[in-house]
Amino acid sequence: MCGIVGYIGNQQAYPILIKGLQRLEYRGYDSAGVALITDSNDMVVYKTKGKVSDLEDFVQSKDVSGTVGIAHTRWATHGEPNNVNAHPHYSQSENLALIHNGIIENYAILKEDLMKRGYTFKSNTDTEVLVQLIEYVKVSNNTDIFHAVQLALTQVIGAYAIAVLERNNPNCIVAARKSSPLVVGIGDDEFFLGSDASPIIEYTNRVIYIDDDEVVRLERGKEPRITNLNNVEKPHQIMELEMSLSELEKGGYQHFMLKEIFEQAKTVRECMRGRINIDRNTVAMSGIIDNKEKFMNARRIIIVACGTSWHAGLIGEYLIEEFARIPVEVEYASEFRYRNPVLNKDDIVIAISQSGETADTLAAIELAHNQGVFVYGICNVIGSSIARNTDSGSYTHAGPEIGVASTKAFTAQVTVLSLIALTIAKEKGTLSKELFESYVTELSSIPDKMEETLGVSSYIEKFSGIFTYAKNFIYLGRGYNYPVALEGALKLKEISYIHAEGYPAAEMKHGPIALIDSEMPVVVIAPNKGMYEKVVSNIQEIKARKGRVVAIITKGDTAIKGMADYYIEIPETCECFVPLLAALPLQLMAYYIAVVKGCNVDQPRNLAKSVTVE
Ligand code: F6R
Repeated sequence: MCGIVGYIGNQQAYPILIKGLQRLEYRGYDSAGVALITDSNDMVVYKTKGKVSDLEDFVQSKDVSGTVGIAHTRWATHGEPNNVNAHPHYSQSENLALIHNGIIENYAILKEDLMKRGYTFKSNTDTEVLVQLIEYVKVSNNTDIFHAVQLALTQVIGAYAIAVLERNNPNCIVAARKSSPLVVGIGDDEFFLGSDASPIIEYTNRVIYIDDDEVVRLERGKEPRITNLNNVEKPHQIMELEMSLSELEKGGYQHFMLKEIFEQAKTVRECMRGRINIDRNTVAMSGIIDNKEKFMNARRIIIVACGTSWHAGLIGEYLIEEFARIPVEVEYASEFRYRNPVLNKDDIVIAISQSGETADTLAAIELAHNQGVFVYGICNVIGSSIARNTDSGSYTHAGPEIGVASTKAFTAQVTVLSLIALTIAKEKGTLSKELFESYVTELSSIPDKMEETLGVSSYIEKFSGIFTYAKNFIYLGRGYNYPVALEGALKLKEISYIHAEGYPAAEMKHGPIALIDSEMPVVVIAPNKGMYEKVVSNIQEIKARKGRVVAIITKGDTAIKGMADYYIEIPETCECFVPLLAALPLQLMAYYIAVVKGCNVDQPRNLAKSVTVE
């Protein structure tokens, strides 16, 4: 995810662009840049690795005059965060400068073709391919920038919101979108561009939301021109925004947490992009392939993590042992770092962290390194300390997670662990071809099933209010769903301050059953896979003691429907991927209970997003 912003009008562009970038910084913060047509009619590009504040430092004493400009804050996908990969990117002749939010899937083919035609590339980004392609199309068709963008985009597969400046055409910005958001703000003789309305709302509440496959030209003194890629004019509606700035920053959701819960189909799709090929039924995690020998010969994998990431690690244990037949242990990083563990040279440590900055996880990595053990990282934040301090790794690509309670990072971590387990299994031949392919097919269908699962939101909202009386909750699950029970309980504790315990369902008889009475809500994850009948018996035992059951069941299940006080249906999937669906209603339940209780969902008391101290 990246943030893009643009301005053309009568005011100085730079201060507007910088403020816009600050508002969009939640979308990405590994590098930032700006392109301006200066008062002396020159086009300049300033960009640097780091945050928007680093860009501000970088441009001090540079010419930032001008009333036209575009700017970008990056969340790296292709190419590490550095000064060269930062946006804007110049075309070969430096006549064009372009910013981009999205991923160009066919960039490799386009790049190869452009290289054959003599184009050279400075960065590792897919974005530079786009700006070179537009220049090539413009020159070879002897056409204007607006038409060149239309033509070039017909060759592009992927997601983009782009904005282009042309050195020799200083009164114009051309922008376009597909699958990445783009908003135009209409002021008095001025136009604004943004990934969302947050950089715009301060200046005007009149906006046009650009649709997929639309190209827009913003020219001084003229109406915006919007067409499709075939140059057919598209009628546009100017909307009057009534939202406040803070709401807009949350994309219209009441809280970042809710927004992030609803983003999960998209983030899991993003996480699988380029790693899973459904047409060829293949999975390839480059970090695993690059270290194939290590993983093939690993005697043991030890997963270290904290909190929600530790819960994802527990699911990873089930996945890796089942698919790849390597013994796995999962440790709290805070325990591992202090307990003098026995480590061998052919062990692998996998460290999981959303923020990549958790102090205990960093210390666990250091301990493993000191004993000569190879460490693989699974991180969300690009360029974070854990990403830098591990020997290899995979990013989860869930985008910045702002809500303190982790939601979309969790499902992205489980997705990465599934991809890792499948990649090792393929290399080791530990799954039959049929089983492997059926898992690949099923995993690729998960984002659609997540969308379907999120459809239950309003039902959950309705019944969750009933449970605000509760002082305690029990969450039960078996197999793959035992960690989901732990995660559901953690979400509730964190944001609603209700005490909750997660247990393997069969453990109930060994103690927790004593707690059950008519006041006790018990959430049971009971899909029609795994030990279904045994979990059904657990539900009967709870009901016999008048407990109140909320059951997560597979669509079409009738037996549990008749027993549970409330049931939430999730689509059918294989046992190993149920956590990716079952986690969503539990997140929603925790969210709605906390909202009804009037808790500060995004900033729960005593918690911080990133635990950088012990
Ligand atoms: C729970 C939560 C925390 C984090 C934990 C580890 O919602 O957010 O439990 O999971 O602090 O953080 P990371 O994954 O950044 O290492």
